[in-house]
Amino acid sequence: MTALRLKAPEAFARIHPYVPGKPLEEVAREYGITDAVKLASNENPLGPSPRAAAAIRDGLNRLHRYPEGEAPLLTEKLSAHLGVPADHLVLGNGSDEVISMLTRVFLGPGDEAILPEPAFLMYDIMVNCDGALPVPVPLKDYTIDLTAILDRITPRTRMIFLTSPNNPTGLALSRASFEPFLDAVPEDVVVVVDEAYIEFARDLSAVNGLHYLDRGKNVAVLRTFSKAYGLAGLRIGYGVMPADMAELLNRIRPPFNTSIPAQLGAAAALDDVDFLQKTLRTVHDGLDEIGQSLAGMGLDYLHSQANFLFIKVPMAADALFEALLREGVVVRSLTSYGYPDHIRVTAGTPAENAKFLDALKKVLG
Ligand SMILES: Cc1ncc(COP(=O)(O)O)c(C=O)c1O
Repeated sequence: MTALRLKAPEAFARIHPYVPGKPLEEVAREYGITDAVKLASNENPLGPSPRAAAAIRDGLNRLHRYPEGEAPLLTEKLSAHLGVPADHLVLGNGSDEVISMLTRVFLGPGDEAILPEPAFLMYDIMVNCDGALPVPVPLKDYTIDLTAILDRITPRTRMIFLTSPNNPTGLALSRASFEPFLDAVPEDVVVVVDEAYIEFARDLSAVNGLHYLDRGKNVAVLRTFSKAYGLAGLRIGYGVMPADMAELLNRIRPPFNTSIPAQLGAAAALDDVDFLQKTLRTVHDGLDEIGQSLAGMGLDYLHSQANFLFIKVPMAADALFEALLREGVVVRSLTSYGYPDHIRVTAGTPAENAKFLDALKKVLG
């Protein structure tokens, strides 16, 4: 067979593919460990919202139909839940897809997008994908450096990505630092505030991007059903932004990008207040319990506003990852994020947290 001669745009040479947390199926195949716990991908330890699961089951007999692209039921519920007009919403196949719609609409060759470094890896991938240049700005004391970001704005800057609470640190931006920052950002720059973990934040001074939609700035807030609502496998997230921005994104949104199960499940999950409360209690208790044990072991960690902990470890993170894996616990080494002596651990059920802490004590001696 003759090999095809493919020529992708040059920017694709810069793209490193996204590496997900190790799935349990892979752990079973590679290590023969079938009872491992996965604390690597910031998923919900309680499973999916039961009301979402029931709604999805009830909708199975409609799977031969295309979904309603506009997702009217979910859009109406979200609009009421968030207190924003429906025309401010853009639904995506995960918030990942909303990131790709934002970069597709607003970035092109020669444009620059500023990203914190490290940051959620999809920003860099999507910026490169649309031919624009990622401009990384290192974190300062583990915090997004808003002053340094302002310094890096040029006439070519079209987009700034912020994550609050941030992944992988778990730290949130404060209103006190965000408001003067936003005032100083030029009006033609899109400020993306990715709030995938906002439901877990306990710090009352944390930014809520929804409060900044009507300030004459191009703020786009990203949220997801993958974390607090337990629906990572369903793939549904959304963006909230001024109506004119949302209208541009909806022009290129694939017509059936959110499936019938995703729309039904997400709408039911919004009504499942008990599940959300139980999730928040479990996660907060888990963070506190793990934190106390880490302190007892003399390990440093950051006080997280998300559902995971960023932990400094006294050995190479990759080696610790391997050793914990052999004990049946999957965590995330942060070497690929530029922290070769840090791991990220998602808060699990009490039993999962205990298994992680036992394994950590054993491995670290
Ligand atoms: C900061 C951040 N943004 C977005 C996402 C993706 O969320 P979704 O599952 O909605 O695509 C994640 C998932 O890990 C994340 O950590």
